[in-house]
Amino acid sequence: MPTPLYDSLRALAGTHPLRLDMPGHHGGPLPGGFPWPSEIDFTENGHTGDLYGGEPDAIQAAERLWAERFGFDSCLFLTGGSTQGIHAGLALLAGEGGPAALDRGSHRSVYHALALLDLTPHFIPRPWLAGEGVTGPVLPETVGKALKAHPEIKTVCITSPTYYGVLSDIPAIAGVCRAHGAKLMVDGAHGAHLPFLGYTGYQAADVVVMSAHKTLPAPGQTALLLANGFGLDQLQRWGSVYGTSSPSYVLMSALDAARDYMEGEGTARYLETVRLTEALRGRWPALAPRDGLALDPARLTLFSPDGFALADALRARGIYPEMADAGHVVCILTCAGGPAEAERLERALADTGLTGPYPPIPPPPEPPQAVLTPRRALFAPRERVLLSQSAGRVCAGQIAPYPPGVPVIAPGERIEKKHLAYLREIGYNEVYCDVIRPREE
Ligand SMILES: Cc1ncc(COP(=O)(O)O)c(C=O)c1O
Repeated sequence: MPTPLYDSLRALAGTHPLRLDMPGHHGGPLPGGFPWPSEIDFTENGHTGDLYGGEPDAIQAAERLWAERFGFDSCLFLTGGSTQGIHAGLALLAGEGGPAALDRGSHRSVYHALALLDLTPHFIPRPWLAGEGVTGPVLPETVGKALKAHPEIKTVCITSPTYYGVLSDIPAIAGVCRAHGAKLMVDGAHGAHLPFLGYTGYQAADVVVMSAHKTLPAPGQTALLLANGFGLDQLQRWGSVYGTSSPSYVLMSALDAARDYMEGEGTARYLETVRLTEALRGRWPALAPRDGLALDPARLTLFSPDGFALADALRARGIYPEMADAGHVVCILTCAGGPAEAERLERALADTGLTGPYPPIPPPPEPPQAVLTPRRALFAPRERVLLSQSAGRVCAGQIAPYPPGVPVIAPGERIEKKHLAYLREIGYNEVYCDVIRPREE
């Protein structure tokens, strides 16, 4: 199977070049026997390609294979995680200044991009699923309502799947965006495995960002920026604004190898994991798909009367879940595991006795009033106060406890008593928060 970038780096290493360039290890081993494939850890040298350059090269050949496999016009490798791709994608679609419709539940990288680009957010709310204690999918009609009320919005950004595995109907949302002349960007940081499992929803979006490192056998920081209707040159331009000028060839060739693995054995193993996840969902109290609730088939979100205690109990047994909140424990199951890992998890779950119905979680209140732009809120002088003493102040950061997993208060919004009451109710109280200094409001 073709791995053009990995093959070309290996071939060059095989010539035993005298390396008088970067990285400083010059292809030799790292001290202390530190395991690192130095021999393919090159820099741009005329043979290795240029991530942000224009000439066809092995990197572009490897990116093209990803673009074709996932059904996109172009693909850029990212060595700074989805965070880099979110910054680049929003700059590409929304540019500087102006409005954007945003999933309220966006990752903080979206909030940071918003502030740096000086965009004005119109937040898209998600329904609260009381039966599951999580937010539901972004609904196409909610996006349509926002775009109808604000026809000046030409960029929409949503997350799918969420941390808990909730998928939104991307083709339907993309259709709504198109009808209003808006472009859709999807933060698919948790969904890089889905196209290999036959999911085609992402192809309807204009721009999609995925973290290979979250759900595929790929190293930390590896991610992808995929686009329809935009050429690689445009992705390179914006990717280079937010990426290092010395991108790691080891990370890039690991992306090449991960795709190749997923063309065969990796997908077969992933499909086995999907079957195991389905069985686990059937045997343990867990988030499960139903009418109106589509889920990532490999994400296991367990219910617990005390999610933090369950996560601690699992960790005490050498099992490390991805995330816990008051009523859930989220496990990322991938092709790296199989029946043995599922059995080990089941034995531990039985041993802890901590799965079961989660405590009631009230839905988050309506967002507070925004009094500063996200940009002003990011750059204005701030101070730290106790959250319980912050009523009336303007929030400088995000207050986003899990659950609900969406910011109860976002940067630039005035903290109201009802939001503090909600945060108290869900047990998020004795913490500090950053607020804008009074004179700067
Ligand atoms: C929904 C979502 N988007 C984006 C990111 C950023 O991804 P990365 O860590 O690859 O930069 C994360 C990270 O956890 C995330 O959960």
